Amino acid sequence: MRARHPLHRQVLPDGRSFLSVTRYRDACRVLGDHREFTSERGSLLQQLGHGDAAAGLMLVSTDPPRHTELRTPLNRVLSARAVRDLEPQVVRAVHRVLHPVLDRTEWDLAEQVAQLPMAVAGMLMGIPEQDWDQLTRWTAMAAAPEDPGLSVRHPAATLAIAHHGLFDYFAGQLRDDRCPRRDDLIGYLTSMLAGGRRLSTEEVIYNCYSLLLGANATTPHAAAGTVLALIEHPAQYAAAPGALPGLVEEGLRWTSPANSFLRHARHDVELSGGLVRRGEAVAVWVGSANRDAEVFPDPYRFDVARPDNRHIAFGFGPHYCLGAPLARMTLAVFFAELFRAFDRIEPDGPVTHLASNFIAGITHLPVRARPRTVSARERDG
Ligand code: HEM
Repeated sequence: MRARHPLHRQVLPDGRSFLSVTRYRDACRVLGDHREFTSERGSLLQQLGHGDAAAGLMLVSTDPPRHTELRTPLNRVLSARAVRDLEPQVVRAVHRVLHPVLDRTEWDLAEQVAQLPMAVAGMLMGIPEQDWDQLTRWTAMAAAPEDPGLSVRHPAATLAIAHHGLFDYFAGQLRDDRCPRRDDLIGYLTSMLAGGRRLSTEEVIYNCYSLLLGANATTPHAAAGTVLALIEHPAQYAAAPGALPGLVEEGLRWTSPANSFLRHARHDVELSGGLVRRGEAVAVWVGSANRDAEVFPDPYRFDVARPDNRHIAFGFGPHYCLGAPLARMTLAVFFAELFRAFDRIEPDGPVTHLASNFIAGITHLPVRARPRTVSARERDG
């Protein structure tokens, strides 16, 4: 498609249709310009034809200028500078996830790492630990309602159950008497000013949902997919412990866990020699853009030393991932601790991929891993 159909129209059996862009340059153009392409009619393919009830309320479904008003105060608490102070807590979250497997040789890396972002977001948002498993499940259902391991009867029913569960959960958190005094991210959302006013309850709930979904639906798949890439590229595995920042970036490019995003044209737009008509939906395929040979030489080579890695795994333009600094830190800490705990990680059974056109993910990655001795772990710090 990149080579022959850079603007590809697809009509679904029920008559809905959308255009796909797969080239890096087109992906950046569509994601980067809200004057041409709006996020307010849904930013996920699963919303095609349904619109977005959260338009103007939830960050990811809102165009500037309101988007800027919402984003500016949130940036303050999630910027690279602000999250630097969170490192000890991220290390604790990684230890919590790795601790149960430290003395085991066979385990499922994807299952284990699925809990990681919730442990980070849970502590950031002040969510009690006993609720983490349920919230992890609901966010997974909301992101990939078609996956057989998550689906309850039907994707639409799965989505409804997940949304109801999550919205009701956050509404309950806000009703709690202690809410106005809490010094966590939920407390911050209730007290921050966006465009000179406080957020409505509905806005707080939507943005709690978006933050949790943003973290839970993506980070584990970047981690598991990167480990799988290392298993498949032994030379890169040997280089990885000494090249953590490069590993994180190449892992993000390679896995592109948030794989597609939707926009709608505000007016007729010429794109890649074709025409997008006003009102038409355009799906941006992030994983494809991140393999565009015009930008990434030898794009199907996994290379932790790849120079000038301008991947768009965190998006591009005004909606560039708000959680990117936290995700980068979480991944770097995870890989560092993984290498410290285990000598060698090898495959131990078939890999299961998530069934989703939104998230490119892995649900099962059975591994055999040789734990390093306590003295080797201590020696290496
Ligand atoms: C590897 C991990 C992650 C990946 C690959 C990822 C990817 C993305 C992408 C591609 C977007 C752009 C959406 C669009 O253009 O419509 C985005 C937005 C967003 N992400 Fe992430 N994300 C990750 C982790 C996180 C984390 C940890 C958080 C929360 C702390 C988070 C919260 C958000 C939010 C709130 C937005 C909306 C930003 C806006 O609309 O201005 N993400 N993410």
